[in-house]
Amino acid sequence: MSVSPPLPAATAVSAAPTQADLLDFVRRTAADAELIASLPLDPEGRTWVRLEGPGGSEAWLIGWPPGTGTGWHDHADSVGAFLTARGGLKEYSLAARLPTDGWKTLELTEGVDRERTLTAGRGRSFGRHHVHEVLNESTEEHAVSVHAYYPPLPRIRRYSRTGQVLRLEQVERPEDWQ
Ligand SMILES: [Fe+2]
Repeated sequence: MSVSPPLPAATAVSAAPTQADLLDFVRRTAADAELIASLPLDPEGRTWVRLEGPGGSEAWLIGWPPGTGTGWHDHADSVGAFLTARGGLKEYSLAARLPTDGWKTLELTEGVDRERTLTAGRGRSFGRHHVHEVLNESTEEHAVSVHAYYPPLPRIRRYSRTGQVLRLEQVERPEDWQ
């Protein structure tokens, strides 16, 4: 009589990481005090260190001097998560799904704006086409955050905003960053 070997307690899965997986990763990473402290900080501008994200995701440790921010953008078809490890960040976002492509300006309806204050240990995940702007509004304190995206960022779409009018300014592709 043959006996099947016991199943391993945890089976390796090759499924794409979910928003929850990415949020879990950024939370665990932000708790690594040594890693967070290893990020070089520059009072003149943001600093980045690339990390190995789970399941082939793209991850970054980012330092934000006071007053810096991203401008409005989205991550096209990638989902993601980010979490503040140190200091505080503000996220302004749109609770609206924008048409994917083929437009240049959009008039936003009233009431689509959201804002979140992400103090140390707080983060969020987001789905595809999440339009946001992230800022360190502190006048004194540097912020550090951890970010993860899946699929690894194929495109970043950058927008300008005047009142309720959102205008697509630029689409960045990986080859533009090299
Ligand atoms: Fe972003």
